Amino acid sequence: SDQTNDRKIEHIQAIEKDPDTDRDGRYFDTIHLTHRALPGLALEKIDTRIEFLGKSLSFPLLISSMTGGDHALIKKINRNLAEAAERTGVALAVGSQRVMFTQPSARESFDLRQYAPTTVLLGNIGAVQLNCGFSVEECQQAVDLLGADGLYLHLNPLQEAIQPEGDTDFSSLTDKIATVVNELSVPVMLKEVGSGLSPQDIESGLSAGVKWFDLAGCGGTSWSRIEHHRAVNKGDSLGIRFQDWGIPTPLALKLAEPYQNSAGFIASGGLRDGIDMVKSVILGASLCGMAAPFLKPAMESADAVVLEIERLRREFTTAMFLLGMPDVNKLFMNRALILGER
Ligand code: FNR
Repeated sequence: SDQTNDRKIEHIQAIEKDPDTDRDGRYFDTIHLTHRALPGLALEKIDTRIEFLGKSLSFPLLISSMTGGDHALIKKINRNLAEAAERTGVALAVGSQRVMFTQPSARESFDLRQYAPTTVLLGNIGAVQLNCGFSVEECQQAVDLLGADGLYLHLNPLQEAIQPEGDTDFSSLTDKIATVVNELSVPVMLKEVGSGLSPQDIESGLSAGVKWFDLAGCGGTSWSRIEHHRAVNKGDSLGIRFQDWGIPTPLALKLAEPYQNSAGFIASGGLRDGIDMVKSVILGASLCGMAAPFLKPAMESADAVVLEIERLRREFTTAMFLLGMPDVNKLFMNRALILGER
């Protein structure tokens, strides 16, 4: 069916038409960091590199999962993102790969190693699909087509609940996730899509053997609001009612702190600049993801995506300089850098 494919275009159109699908929660703004007037280091000596899944990244940035499918615009978006990620040494996750199983012509949009031969690429499948006929077989095919270093299983119960054609049976998923963890050739990572993972979710994931969690909290892209625009009954207000539902990303990071010895965490959901990234690393993020900020540049060109990445890099490095931090290791979980919270 073309349903999944059309849906991805409808989502992009909804985001373009309605700027308020980005909720602009600015939850990181209440955190104030300790500015150093005497940072004690040279700006050009700052080392922003990190290691992730055995590869080196130039700074802790991930272009979060967005799209894939048999459509010229979607293929262009993924190619531009892949070329830019490779040129700048950042990680890239693709959008849900479910469409490649219903529409073979969509496979090309995930065949990205030709544009990004060395950097970290992450696949993506909805975890709920494990209750709709998908098994480790499909997960492995998704990984193999992309040449992925890891596979995201996304958890999106709010989106599915608002979506007219949503898959809403989230029962017994933990056992099925455990099977994928045990049998897949690469690490499985759990992510939300903008409502956040709770400590209970992290514990379920840990019990299934998951070692990486993308908290994807609220404050940025609202899937509830996006799906509202696709509701069959236009009088239905459910998607608006729940548009800000969830755990704000900085709070999700704090709630994840007790699990730092058992897992690694990715911050996403509402991060919009290099300062938000620095705050995320201080709160325990190994990597920082952004989706919405890359959509427009990706529709334009790889150069436009590179410009956006270089803006983020400059902001990230400047914030490290003003905190007197020579490398990302010294920044990670360094709560002493938090001056206060309002
Ligand atoms: C997304 N997101 C997403 N997530 C996922 O796991 N699978 C997907 O297919 C998609 N598709 C998608 C499309 C578009 C256009 C956007 C903007 C986002 C969610 C995304 O990966 C991320 O978790 C949230 O968007 C939160 O980050 P931002 O947008 O607030 O930076």
